[in-house]
Amino acid sequence: MTAKSLKVPCSNAPRHNNLHHFSVRCGSVTNVRGFTVFRDASRPERKDGYNHTKILALNRMNSAHNSPVTTVKRTVILVANSKGGCGKTTIATNLVSYYEALGRPVTLLDLDPQQSATQWLKLRKSAHIHGLSWPVSEPLSLGRLQQKLDQAGELVVIDSPAGLDPHELDHLLRLSQIVLVPVLPSPIDIRATTRFLQTVMLTPTYRRRPRRLAVVANRARTRTKMYAALRQFLTSLKIPYLVTLRDTQLYVQAMSHGEGVMDAAVSRNLDDRQHWRLIGEWLEVQRHLIQAMPGFR
Ligand SMILES: Nc1ncnc2c1ncn2[C@@H]1O[C@H](COP(=O)(O)OP(=O)(O)OP(=O)(O)O)[C@@H](O)[C@H]1O
Ligand SMILES: [Mg+2]
Repeated sequence: MTAKSLKVPCSNAPRHNNLHHFSVRCGSVTNVRGFTVFRDASRPERKDGYNHTKILALNRMNSAHNSPVTTVKRTVILVANSKGGCGKTTIATNLVSYYEALGRPVTLLDLDPQQSATQWLKLRKSAHIHGLSWPVSEPLSLGRLQQKLDQAGELVVIDSPAGLDPHELDHLLRLSQIVLVPVLPSPIDIRATTRFLQTVMLTPTYRRRPRRLAVVANRARTRTKMYAALRQFLTSLKIPYLVTLRDTQLYVQAMSHGEGVMDAAVSRNLDDRQHWRLIGEWLEVQRHLIQAMPGFR
């Protein structure tokens, strides 16, 4: 037994949409003689400790899904929702500042013609965050997006514009491994997000190979009826629902000063910082799974 080994704790274990062929609760991912193996801790072991069916299935998937676009060892996290104003830029900028706080080099690709993330980065003057923006009038083509990503580092966060059409979305999904979808507690936002998630799942890229998809509730006032409705909607989805970000001026101020909630200057609230740790931990588990099991990229 050599190389990579990743333990997946029960609380962070992949749901069915992540390891879509298996109903796995917890276990470990291991590289055995060049083969990626998921060992399901919830099932009895064979003598050699591995479930043979899973070994065969994973190896089949590893070889079936290797395409030129996905062989690069780069993790691309797409923040997207076709609904405007739900918090895409807020989540993208806070995520890169979370990585910067960890000392991790990260690229922020701003695809929004409004260039809010680019403005935020100018204010920040960061050494660890590499900013890339998209020419305002240029359509999102797969080839040009790929060229842009060639200039990026190993960890990329994409801030996408509202109103992506299904073709643009398909291109972006093709180049991303993880998708974070912010949603606000309002009937209009819940309906728009339902449509957006359906559109994601119907794209040719997602149908070929589901991406790791998670929802983040944003601007929530947890004592309201609307928040209860949002919770009901989120728990009805077969998609991980990571955290609920508070509705607070902390985010508005951070955005206007080129800061993130993890930065010392705006770190008044420990709960808000904890939300970003939870998001970061979930993303890290996904990243390790993707690297340990290239067939799932
Ligand atoms: N948790 C929050 N609490 C308070 N204000 C927030 C929060 N999240 C976002 N906002 C504010 O809501 C507004 C919209 O957020 P943001 O720009 O991140 O949305 P967006 O999805 O990127 O919008 P667009 O679709 O126009 O690009 C901004 O003014 C932002 O500061
Ligand atoms: Mg935006």
